[in-house]
Amino acid sequence: MKHLYIAGNWKMHKTIEEAVSFAKILRERLSATSHTLMVAPPFTALASVAQVLKGSNIRLGAQNMGQEESGAHTGEISPLMLKEIGVSTVILGHSERRHTYLESNELINKKVLLALKHNFEVILCIGETLAERESGKLEQVIHEQLEKGLAGVSKEAMRSIVIAYEPVWAIGTGKNATPDDAEAVHVFIRNVLAKMYSDEVAKNTIIQYGGSVKPENIQALMSMPNINGALVGGASLKEDQFVPIATVVV
Ligand code: 13P
Repeated sequence: MKHLYIAGNWKMHKTIEEAVSFAKILRERLSATSHTLMVAPPFTALASVAQVLKGSNIRLGAQNMGQEESGAHTGEISPLMLKEIGVSTVILGHSERRHTYLESNELINKKVLLALKHNFEVILCIGETLAERESGKLEQVIHEQLEKGLAGVSKEAMRSIVIAYEPVWAIGTGKNATPDDAEAVHVFIRNVLAKMYSDEVAKNTIIQYGGSVKPENIQALMSMPNINGALVGGASLKEDQFVPIATVVV
């Protein structure tokens, strides 16, 4: 059976109460799965969900992180605050952060390095817009996001990096990349990592696919040789969708 890393990004959904009751359900229903699992609730629910998931097989993730340890950064959350709660993983460079909140590759890189300094696992999200894909810029965009996002990250530190390929046009649209299209980009990502680091790093790095992952398409996507897991948005919010996704057998 193929080992996968399935993560749920809850985005700006669920109150503390809703998040806690959903986390309790997931803890119970996913206790027997051998896949690596993670959920990323909104910041307000992190501390409460941490209590529910303590000692379980589900990692706790944050959806973003500030670029400094402390200081005058209104509205931002420091890595120290996330550590204190028990967060193990941070999602950085999500396309909603890049496009709605205008986070640059340089800012994302600063956060990546800071997260690694504090021993977080980092899920670095990359992906092209539809306009970029249609104008033939797919490889250029992916290459740049990897090169700039991972600037200064050592070969050793790559063990703590997960890449999530999330084509922007597939996020929340119901239109997932075909397994073949996703696989082709995952192969390209591995080639870039091989050039930046080594064949070993390229082979060992976990690369998730994200973008309209559902129970209906998880099997076909995860069957592709270079896809090692999924970063799930909308379908991670409901028991009847996330449980089959997180327990998929490939
Ligand atoms: P959807 O699964 O809702 O398309 O979202 C994907 C995503 O952005 C996960 O980070």
